[in-house]
Amino acid sequence: MITLDNPISSGEIPFTDTKIEYSFSFFPFEKYISKMKKHLTLVLMALPLFAFTQTQSERDARVEKFLKEHRTEWHDLNVPYVDGQTLHDLIIKNGYKSALEIGTSTGHSTIWIAWAMSKTGGKVTTLELSEKRHKQAIKNLTEAGLIEFVDAKLGNAHELVKQLPGTFDFVFSDADKDWYKQYFLDVTPKLTKGGCYTAHNVVDGNVPKEYNVFVESNKEFETTIDRQSRAGIMISYKK
Ligand SMILES: C[S@@+](CC[C@H](N)C(=O)[O-])C[C@H]1O[C@@H](n2cnc3c(N)ncnc32)[C@H](O)[C@@H]1O
Repeated sequence: MITLDNPISSGEIPFTDTKIEYSFSFFPFEKYISKMKKHLTLVLMALPLFAFTQTQSERDARVEKFLKEHRTEWHDLNVPYVDGQTLHDLIIKNGYKSALEIGTSTGHSTIWIAWAMSKTGGKVTTLELSEKRHKQAIKNLTEAGLIEFVDAKLGNAHELVKQLPGTFDFVFSDADKDWYKQYFLDVTPKLTKGGCYTAHNVVDGNVPKEYNVFVESNKEFETTIDRQSRAGIMISYKK
């Protein structure tokens, strides 16, 4: 019997009275296939991660485009672009995951907060009294690709904040200014330690001065005011 190595096939070829046998020894197919299997398994395991990264970067591009295109079109008492960015950055910096917004309007600040939530893996609950604004906010959030990170509630926040179970790690107060103190009293027991309570319009004269004094003198909170914001954002961390 004569034995030959052949990389392509194997088998027996009958000669007159001699048999030639081919073997795989020249090209180790089995080893090669097992290595390929290992690589394929690794690729399959990494696929969901890759898909997530793709989805998030696609989402980011969609939100950025939406915010850029509508930057000058917010006319319903909405926060300016830079203030929205400040809220977003605060959430990202602290990894907050459970936000409450009081005063949705048409959803400009909600978009910034929800965008941050899409990155931390959280969700924002937002409250609005006006049905027209609530509906427009839902439309805007859908168009921006962020609606899945938002629970938009229609109703009077005076009642809603009491009914919401919490807990929250980030709050943005931006509805009726004369109720700011009561919102603070109703919501802060549901704020986690290390959580952040923010309030808009604290330097432009819209919020009663009494509110600033009340929060700034509260020893359970570390409070500063972001004066880069023209309206002023009060930022209070729960100790
Ligand atoms: C300053 S705007 C909010 C702007 C919004 N945060 C933004 O940047 O897009 C205040 C909103 O709070 C709503 N509002 C006022 N009183 C409210 C209440 N008691 N309950 C719920 N929403 C209220 C108003 O209808 C208004 O749309």
